[in-house]
Amino acid sequence: MKDKVVTPYQNRLSKKEQVAGMFNHIAHRYDFLNHFLSLGVDRLWRKRVVRKLALNQPSAMLDVATGTGDLAIAAARKIDNLNVQGIDIAMSMLERGKQKIVKSKLEHRVQIQLGDAENIGFDDNRFDCVTAAFGVRNFENVAKGLSEMHRVTKPGGQVIILEFSQPGKGVFAFFYRFYFRFLLPLMGKIVSGNNRAYTYLPESVEVFPDREAFTKLLGDAGFANCSFKPLTFGVACMYTGHKA
Ligand SMILES: C[S@@+](CC[C@H](N)C(=O)[O-])C[C@H]1O[C@@H](n2cnc3c(N)ncnc32)[C@H](O)[C@@H]1O
Repeated sequence: MKDKVVTPYQNRLSKKEQVAGMFNHIAHRYDFLNHFLSLGVDRLWRKRVVRKLALNQPSAMLDVATGTGDLAIAAARKIDNLNVQGIDIAMSMLERGKQKIVKSKLEHRVQIQLGDAENIGFDDNRFDCVTAAFGVRNFENVAKGLSEMHRVTKPGGQVIILEFSQPGKGVFAFFYRFYFRFLLPLMGKIVSGNNRAYTYLPESVEVFPDREAFTKLLGDAGFANCSFKPLTFGVACMYTGHKA
């Protein structure tokens, strides 16, 4: 099942084009739905990432698949003198993000622009840390994206990836699965007006590599000391690695 490719729509466009189209379509409701459907827990997950980043006091960060910029903004707020670049393939998500950056008065330290994770337009060894929150699952070619993230990380720098994951067994997992597969798609469809975005979400999580397998992919991309930390009963997972 894990080799199955799940795309947002059934049409002839590439996964990348479909993903960009879908996020462009739901951008106006994306932040609201994120916080509403996760009961605000998504903010706590990003805070965990930022706390870990802050330990190394980085000065240059790349946030891949930055979307509306939540992780980029949270990192710049918490870490003094941090400069953040963000890239994403969905222009409408970036437009929302740019408004938030201006509102947070962070334009001088956070810049986000169109850019593809699988062909990153920055020099080798440019960033102290490279992050991606809930983006990797959407890449067309995950190995290519990870290897690009490794290329632009400085030696000694780190990668942190936040991604949905599957909780194991037990009562929580049972109710969560029901919520994630049935209630969330229904509420997402009503609020976003997009039929597929919130059914694609659980489908894409189901075919995403499990924690051990994804940690191995990080290692295959060149990162060393790769590890993972399940969050909130394993609903999400934070992956870390270093560039030697
Ligand atoms: C679920 S959103 C996450 C946005 C943001 N990181 C957050 O935490 O809210 C996934 C984002 O990944 C972006 N994305 C998917 N494939 C990408 C790629 N190849 N390069 C850059 N961004 C990509 C989508 O456009 C979308 O904005």
